Order: sequence, then structure tokens, then C-alpha cells
Amino acid sequence: MKENDEPSRRNFLRKLGTATAAVAVGSNVFAADKKNDVFSYLKRTGGFSANDQVNIALIGAGGQGSEDTNVALQIPGVKLIAVCDLYDGRLADAKKRWGADIFTTKIYKEILNRKDIDAVIIGTPDHWHQQISVDAMHAGKHVYCEKPMVHAITEGPAVIQAQKETGKIFQVGSQGVSSLGNEKAKELLAAGAIGQLNYAEGFWARRGAVEVWQYPIPADASPQTVDWDTYVSNVHKRPFDEKRFFRWRNYTNYGTGMAGDLFVHLFSSLHLVTGSHGPEKIYASGGLRFWNDGREVPDVLLGTFDYAKNDMHPAFNLSLRCNFVDGTSGTTYLRLVGSEGAMDITWDEVVLKRNKVFASDDPFYLEKLRQAGDRNPERKKMLPPEEIVYKADKGYLGGPYDHMNNFITAIRTNGKVTEDATFGYRAAAPALLCNDSYFNNKPMFWDPEKMVKKG
Ligand SMILES: NC(=O)c1ccc[n+]([C@@H]2O[C@H](COP(=O)([O-])OP(=O)(O)OC[C@H]3O[C@@H](n4cnc5c(N)ncnc54)[C@H](O)[C@@H]3O)[C@@H](O)[C@H]2O)c1
Repeated sequence: MKENDEPSRRNFLRKLGTATAAVAVGSNVFAADKKNDVFSYLKRTGGFSANDQVNIALIGAGGQGSEDTNVALQIPGVKLIAVCDLYDGRLADAKKRWGADIFTTKIYKEILNRKDIDAVIIGTPDHWHQQISVDAMHAGKHVYCEKPMVHAITEGPAVIQAQKETGKIFQVGSQGVSSLGNEKAKELLAAGAIGQLNYAEGFWARRGAVEVWQYPIPADASPQTVDWDTYVSNVHKRPFDEKRFFRWRNYTNYGTGMAGDLFVHLFSSLHLVTGSHGPEKIYASGGLRFWNDGREVPDVLLGTFDYAKNDMHPAFNLSLRCNFVDGTSGTTYLRLVGSEGAMDITWDEVVLKRNKVFASDDPFYLEKLRQAGDRNPERKKMLPPEEIVYKADKGYLGGPYDHMNNFITAIRTNGKVTEDATFGYRAAAPALLCNDSYFNNKPMFWDPEKMVKKG
């Protein structure tokens, strides 16, 4: 994108509306003491309607699968019929939580064979996402599959193909992409709010044992209560290991490390906001610095990603960092930086900072300033930062609700989802290649349009 093609500041201000524009510009030029931050509520326009009943089942009833199910059950007309999990305790919890009459099983194909189920939520560890997704769509079920869509870079095409062949609705669970915050950021970027995008960054900091994947192991965990053989049936076989079952994120056979767990959310949001299909070059570094608990994945990971110019955006660079040894118990953010400002994006808030100093050499304008009592209008001023905060309206149900509602609405209307298999693969691929880069100690190359690994 050329300098003079870029969405202009004036254009952006016009779209912001007169009141906001008056503060955004006027505070700098005329009244440095004016309140410099503007609050604007993000609102969702056009509701979603409840039509037919949608019967769902959950496969993988741990933390996130249960969370997704609870969100789905907030949507009028959604009913939970069945739950599958490999651990007895989770099936017992499911009956306690959702009623003794739900059908429970350890065999996911028993769920897929039922005629009374329209859609499944897949909340298993990552190494089961592809197979259950493909089997479910071929069994005629719509699928909401947790992120990352796949466990290995080679697994994506089969999910995309199954979606195309079956015509089923398939949504990947990076819920931020349906949020008001992501939508607003997309609108602001397109309106030129930060000028030309050149850089983006994201960061996670964690420190607590449970936060960094040392989950509690139930007292009754054993080969009698866990179907271990099924768990490892599609990966390297080994004897029962409770840590590998309940703390699966730490092991490469089942999880996808920090990149697949966390970076993937930021790829999803970044791709939604920018319209990008992904980076071309991926390079990671990091190490296992602190949590020497037998884990196979690093606890500090830094990734750099080069995005090439395309129809939707100029070339830009992305830096993602994750630190599980962060004594400050820091923060998480996604920031887009452009030639005229930056945006910090969350699901329910966008903070827009505009750093460009407004200066004018227009004689008419300078004369007006003199008339207003400024004896030396050419002299530089102390300027407050421009900051505009967009916050979700009170009572906003949040990105998770919007994302699930987007899925259920697509089922009811045969409509489109925000994060289909192609979008989900384009978000997962750079995360998975980040791991490949770390473990192979070399950069990885990816064609985001054709979705093939290069080199
Ligand atoms: N979207 C988000 O914000 C978000 C947050 C957390 C986790 N996740 C994703 O959700 C998935 C689950 O993560 P979690 O934290 O809930 O893990 P978890 O360990 O709490 O739950 C996983 C459950 O799957 C069960 N399971 C394992 N293999 C199975 C199989 N073959 N069939 C049926 N059940 C099986 C386990 O017994 C367990 O109950 C992961 O892919 C993770 O990346 C997404």
C-alpha cells in the first residue's frame, strides 16, 4: 500500500462522527487541558433469533468443553442430549451438572450414531480434533471444534475437505473472532484509524502452577477409570500415565505447546481484523527455563512472523511472546501498530492511541490561532496523547456467547460462521509451524494462500 493510498486520518475522523472528532483533533490544537479520552460503547446491532431446537452433544467434557456447553445452553432452543469422555469422573460430573437423563459414553462413535443429535462440541485434547471432526461431519453432524483446529500441519486439508464434501457447519473455537472488540478493531483499521499497519504484537504472562498446566490429578485416576487405550490409539502407545492424560498440554503427542494453545487465538483475531491469510515466514526461539516437571515443551516462547503484502493489507511483522515464568504475573494483549497510531484489542474493548502530532502551516489557520490569543502559533505545543476507548455496552454477553450463537444461528439458517475450517487452518498453521521452527531450530516457510508448507 502506498503512503498516499492509505486510509486517511480525515476519512477516519469523518467516520468517527463529529463529537468524537472534535475532541480527537480539538484537544490537541486548541485546548490541551480538555479531557483527552473518549468513551464509546460497542453495541451489537441486529439480534439473533431462536427458531428450531438444536440438539447438541459434547465430546471431551473437561474444562473448555463444559464451558462451551454452558454457553450453548444459554441460547434459547439448544438442548444437550449426550456427553462423551474417556474418564468416569467427567461423565459423572456431566450428569450432576446437566441432569441424570443425559446419555453418557466413552465411545464417541456412539454419539455420532445417534439420530437425535444435530451438532457436537469437540473439547478433547488437540490430538483428537481432526479425527472426531471428520468422522462427525461424515456422520451428518455440525461441529464446533475447539482450537487449534488440528494437532499437526498435515491434518488441516482433511477437515477442510470433509466440510466441503458434507456441507456441514463447522466452527473453530477461537471465540474472540466473534466479539465486539475484534469487530470494532476491524472497522477501525479499515477506516484508517492507525494509518498504515506495519507491526503487530501479542503477549501472555503466567506464573501460577495451574495456569502453566500443572493441573490437579483426580485421586481415582487409574486405568480402571480412564480409557487410556483409546486416548493413545492414534499416537505413540505407552503404558498408562496420569500426567499425560490430565496434564496433556505439556506433551507433544497430545498438545501443541504455547503456540497451539495461546498464539492461535491471536492469529485468529489478527487474521479477522486485518483480513490476512497468514504469514510467509515463521521463526521461533525460547526454552524450558523453570518448570522442570517432565514437560516436553518450552515455558518461554518467542515467535516472529513475516506477513507479505496482499489485497487486504501491506507487508507487516508480527511478534508473539509467551512467558510462563513471569514473576510480575503480567498481562495479555494484542496490539496493532500503524503509521499514525496503535490499537490494543480485547474481546470487549479497543483502546486506540493516536500518536501523530497535528501540525499545520496553513496561513488561514495560523491567523485564526493568533486571533484566539496565541502570539506564536508556530511554536510547538505540549500535547496530550489522543486516546479513544471503545468499551462493550453494559450487559454484553461476550465473545464466547457471540461465537457459539454464530454457530447455532448458522445451523438454523444454513448460514456462515466466522471461523470455518479454512480460517481455522490458517490460524492453526503458523502456530504449529512455530513449534516446528522451535524444535528444528530453523525458520519455516508457508504459503498462506495455497495453505502449503514451503521448503
Ligand atoms: N477457546 C478457548 O479459549 C480454550 C480454552 C481452553 C482450552 N481450549 C481447547 O479445548 C480443548 C480441551 O482443553 P481443556 O482445557 O478443556 O482440557 P481438559 O483436559 O480439561 O479436557 C479434555 C477432556 O477430553 C477428554 N478426552 C480426551 N480424549 C478424548 C477422546 N478421544 N474422546 C472423548 N473425550 C476425550 C478428557 O478426559 C478430558 O475430560 C483443547 O483443544 C484446548 O486447546 C480452548
